[in-house]
Amino acid sequence: MHAKTLRSVVVLGSTGSVGTQALDVIAANPGGFKVAGLAAGGGRVDVLAAQAAAFDVEVVAVADAAAVPALKEALAARGASPVVLGGHEGVAEVAAWQCDTVLNAITGALGLTSTLVALEAGRALALANKESLIIGGPLVKRLARPGQILPVDSEHSALQQCLWAAGPGGYDPSGVRQLVITASGGPFRGMKREEMADVTPEMALAHPTWSMGPVITINSATLVNKGLEVIEAHLLFDLGFDRIEVVVHPQSVIHSMVEYVDGSTIAQASPPDMRLPIALALAHPARVPGAARPVDWTKAHTWTFEPLDDTAFPAVALARHVGAEGGTAPAVYNAANETCVEAFSRGGLRFPAIVDTVAKVVEEHRVTPASSVEEVLAADAWARARAAELTAGQSF
Ligand SMILES: NC(=O)c1ccc[n+]([C@@H]2O[C@H](COP(=O)([O-])OP(=O)(O)OC[C@H]3O[C@@H](n4cnc5c(N)ncnc54)[C@H](OP(=O)(O)O)[C@@H]3O)[C@@H](O)[C@H]2O)c1
Repeated sequence: MHAKTLRSVVVLGSTGSVGTQALDVIAANPGGFKVAGLAAGGGRVDVLAAQAAAFDVEVVAVADAAAVPALKEALAARGASPVVLGGHEGVAEVAAWQCDTVLNAITGALGLTSTLVALEAGRALALANKESLIIGGPLVKRLARPGQILPVDSEHSALQQCLWAAGPGGYDPSGVRQLVITASGGPFRGMKREEMADVTPEMALAHPTWSMGPVITINSATLVNKGLEVIEAHLLFDLGFDRIEVVVHPQSVIHSMVEYVDGSTIAQASPPDMRLPIALALAHPARVPGAARPVDWTKAHTWTFEPLDDTAFPAVALARHVGAEGGTAPAVYNAANETCVEAFSRGGLRFPAIVDTVAKVVEEHRVTPASSVEEVLAADAWARARAAELTAGQSF
């Protein structure tokens, strides 16, 4: 790779979809990176111990303190002896560990503390955990230096790359007419609302183009993920919601585009593979040769684009609404959704009721400015409790 020095990386959420792909990138570039620390929830201690041994890490943590003894045993069996930490404080300690870049690939609102801790410690933050930026918007923005957050989401990595093409003067929002975020449309693209009444978790988990963790996969089916991404783009690139468009592109090859005021549109294209945006966020400003396969220009391709059906998929319009409200509104949108996704996944809620319930919870919420972590977490907790009340006793 083109980076001049070995970059040390901490991977939070290392046993998940993004985490394991990040370690693939690192393993393929031993001269480019070393892994200083790892953290995970504690559900897969054998995988975590194998990673810790393979990368000879200094520290490893599990959020579930009860998993520490099993982790220690699995590490000892592999002859590895890193520092072992447990509980949410242990994960936070790894987020602040001495390194160049922290990759936050924890899933859900639980990632907020790690994002804040890594920023405060001055690390470059490769951010897959979009939820932390979205729910903690004002707090995260207050802490982050310009360029300190490197987006891992493929769409935002694409937008970032398209914005680098702004010219020698660098990014100037006044030169941009709009950001265009692409969406695969998920497994239910083209369906009407009524047709989605009986879809099952298995159907929602069958994403047509991406292989991802379960929460983001269901969020891609409801288009809540796209709603979260619209808010993420607003926070990362400081453009109003009226200048962030969503377009459905089922092939997932154009990952997003920037339309400039002169009518020029710059797009970023690559076959769907998270290793590319992960590698770019870890190596920035270098690029990692061979991080992913490029488009094969010797073959014929058809790339199509269509408008989003906001009636069948109201999640994006709702996200624009909560994003524009700001304060605690995005945290409530996210938390109510996480509760509803859980309920849907265990057969306790119909698919269209996920976004309907989120909308109800958002409507009932009295927005406050989100000026402290406690305030955000209180709004998050209220939204989870309210969503649980509204969905109790439902099933399909
Ligand atoms: N997957 C993708 O392609 C993709 C693309 C773009 C953005 N993202 C974003 O990246 C994030 C991760 O997604 P994913 O698909 O990789 O999720 P995932 O496969 O479900 O993995 C989640 C990871 O987080 C760990 N974890 C859970 N709670 C934790 C805690 N309290 N502290 C530390 N680690 C904890 C899990 O550990 P255990 O194994 O112990 O449970 C696991 O390693 C999400 O915010 C998602 O929206 C993902």
